[in-house]
Amino acid sequence: MVPPLPGGEAEAGAELDGATLYNQFECSRCHGIVGEGGVAAALNQTEWPEDELIDIIRNGRDAMNGYPPETLLDEELQALIPYVQAIGRGEVESTIVLYKRQLPPPRLSCSDAAQPATRTDCGGN
Ligand code: HEC
Repeated sequence: MVPPLPGGEAEAGAELDGATLYNQFECSRCHGIVGEGGVAAALNQTEWPEDELIDIIRNGRDAMNGYPPETLLDEELQALIPYVQAIGRGEVESTIVLYKRQLPPPRLSCSDAAQPATRTDCGGN
């Protein structure tokens, strides 16, 4: 069982996870997979107040389009905000490691080799 990601705890019982939403709605595409920045600003420098985050996410900012309620439901926004705030507090560096732990082990394309376990060139494919 992988520990919950910071900021990922939405209302009890809800399936909505801030980290998942952050990637699902492609925040990561512009702001980096853990908010480290990319084509758009890093999000791990400032903890944005909730009302400002709502404004930015709903209405957009500069080259960022807003996410209207039809696209990003209110409950999704509510789950996303604490996650983005956790990024802002610098708590999310380990997210990528946690994600990797949840992934199944990579399939090696040379599994039909005579002695795959002893081959050292299987991992890079
Ligand atoms: C198409 C690229 C793109 C996507 C997708 C995107 N953003 Fe942005 N975002 C920007 C740009 C551009 C800015 C303005 C700041 C800048 O120029 O880097 C911005 C600004 C912000 C800011 C204010 C940061 C600052 O320093 O001004 C926050 C917070 C933010 N975005 C959160 C999000 C979240 C959360 C999502 C996903 C729901 C998201 N963004 C999706 C491009 C994007």
